[in-house]
Amino acid sequence: MKSILFICLGNICRSPLADGIANKIARDKNLSLYIDSAGTSEWHIGEAPCENSIKIAKQHQIDISQLKARTLHREDAKTFDYIVAMDKQNAKDLQNLGYENVYLIGDYGNYQGADVPDPYFFPGFEGFEKVYTMLDNVIKDFLEKENLC
Ligand code: 4NP
Repeated sequence: MKSILFICLGNICRSPLADGIANKIARDKNLSLYIDSAGTSEWHIGEAPCENSIKIAKQHQIDISQLKARTLHREDAKTFDYIVAMDKQNAKDLQNLGYENVYLIGDYGNYQGADVPDPYFFPGFEGFEKVYTMLDNVIKDFLEKENLC
């Protein structure tokens, strides 16, 4: 079974949403994939995803309310086939820590290497709608291009 670890800074906004979207696609298509998410920071360990990520996911019939934030572990390098960063800073941090199988999710779909914008710093819900739209597009393309679906 192939495995994917989605990475952002806090593991409360973007990567749990990516985790939920990818899991829904895997379930709907009966794909055999192990999917998880983690943060490069230790700031939010044990916390549920932020309210707006739970809300936007729910609007698309995805329940991420039970996820709990965790930080990156050394073993993740061995456990996961794909370590998928939400932005270039995450990718740089991963590379500096010695992770090799690092992918930038914005390199897929129609986003030309763009970062998934960090909605933690956006006022309001609109940022989360943009993040959802982007993640849905780039994750589908990632699964196709990497022959995972
Ligand atoms: P995330 O968003 O990386 O998408 O989970 C953030 C969450 C928390 C913080 C920054 C980004 N923070 O500074 O605490």
